[in-house]
Amino acid sequence: MYLGLDLGTSGVKALLIDGDQTVIASATAALDVSRPHDGWSEQEPADWIRATEEAVGRLKASHPADLAATRGIGLSGQMHGATLLDAAGAVLRPCILWNDTRSHQQAARLDADPRFRAITGNIVFPGFTAPKLAWVKDNEPDVFARVAKVLLPKDYLRLWLTGEFISEMSDSAGTSWLVVGARAWSADLLAATDLDESHMPALVEGTDPAGTLKASLAARWGMGGNVVVAGGAGDNAASACGMGAVRGDQAFVSLGTSGVLFAANARYLPNPESAVHAFCHALPETWHQMGVILSATDSLNWLEDITGRSAKELTDELGEQLHAPSGVTFLPYLSGERTPHNDATIRGAFSGLSHQSGRAVLTQAVVEGVAFAFRDSLEALHAAGTDVSRVTAIGGGSRSRYWLKAIATALGIPVDIPADGDFGAAFGAARLGLIAAEKADPLSVCVPPATAETIEPEDGLSQAYEDAYRRYRALYPAIRGVSS
Ligand code: XUL
Repeated sequence: MYLGLDLGTSGVKALLIDGDQTVIASATAALDVSRPHDGWSEQEPADWIRATEEAVGRLKASHPADLAATRGIGLSGQMHGATLLDAAGAVLRPCILWNDTRSHQQAARLDADPRFRAITGNIVFPGFTAPKLAWVKDNEPDVFARVAKVLLPKDYLRLWLTGEFISEMSDSAGTSWLVVGARAWSADLLAATDLDESHMPALVEGTDPAGTLKASLAARWGMGGNVVVAGGAGDNAASACGMGAVRGDQAFVSLGTSGVLFAANARYLPNPESAVHAFCHALPETWHQMGVILSATDSLNWLEDITGRSAKELTDELGEQLHAPSGVTFLPYLSGERTPHNDATIRGAFSGLSHQSGRAVLTQAVVEGVAFAFRDSLEALHAAGTDVSRVTAIGGGSRSRYWLKAIATALGIPVDIPADGDFGAAFGAARLGLIAAEKADPLSVCVPPATAETIEPEDGLSQAYEDAYRRYRALYPAIRGVSS
């Protein structure tokens, strides 16, 4: 058995597969995000441990013998978070998460130093880790002075699981401190933020062993000795391992809290000018590109909160048949945007509202707005030299057929729905656990799932969607100066 642990933003998921990669069981435990100020987003690392204990505890209750047979564990996690530890390994402040944009001034300052884009192949986005450390230095100097180690969220979980300070390439590529082409820490970039390699964990590939489960935890979960913990991956690269998007130009869209259009690349293909992320993949000598939108299902969650209706009720109200855009446009920039704007201070907007604009019209606009944000990411990937001719859809939002039809029509390419199953980040992490524990060949483990169904673009609505996309594109420059 192999256990995948995915530390997401809204919860921890634990998923158990057997040697044939059949999912035996899964369990989740919820996490909250604290937003003490506009643009801030934090979590307490102790809550990650509590949620992991809870999720694994549920597996132990339902499948004790299967859990006891675990030979390998793989980790996946929300990327970019800054978990700051002192010399004794104690957490110094709440973790500043990937969708926290408080450090936009520090990010702009670092991004203006040409070494960052040249060495990392990426814009220094405010959500990335290095500018967060610069913010802490500027605003909480006492905390900064005590920082002995900086860990990404899943690597903090690894520290708890194994006692080791280790990270891997895919997640580390999102720190702004990694030489992404050469897969090593950059002493120059660390020095530019008053840090050095001693503040960083050791680096391995995601498929490599990276620690052994502590005897105390193994005993608590009924496991034997020598349970290997794999390097694992940032959640997007882990999902790609689950979806089999590991070879050149295989692509998927992830409709989760964030929205991601992901393409695997056989080479390192940076293009920061288009705000594309160019990161290491979890497999050796493999890279990937992605466009990232900060509020995907989070935009619908926001509408849930203010309408008092669940996301399912809201999207059910639209029916199954795709409608032409109504003329109401929504920009999903509730906490700023990465691809294509790199703008932390922009905020969301509705335009074109009339007396007739009821709840369903607003839901339709939100769904379309997120679909158009994916279209922006598709254009950004094109500009970065990657052709995406079809995508597979994953993530909570992909349960809405209406949303998938809107995405297929906005992108003008087919969207594949995987056959029944769970091919997300926790499954990808479990696959990495299997590879590390058994020294298995990554490419023969990370194969794509069968396709259950393909959603084609609605040709009859292509022009109407194209017109609506143009309105959407025109809105950002129009509101930029008055947004905040
Ligand atoms: C990727 C990113 C998000 C988080 C979500 O750059 O910030 O997709 O990884 O967990």
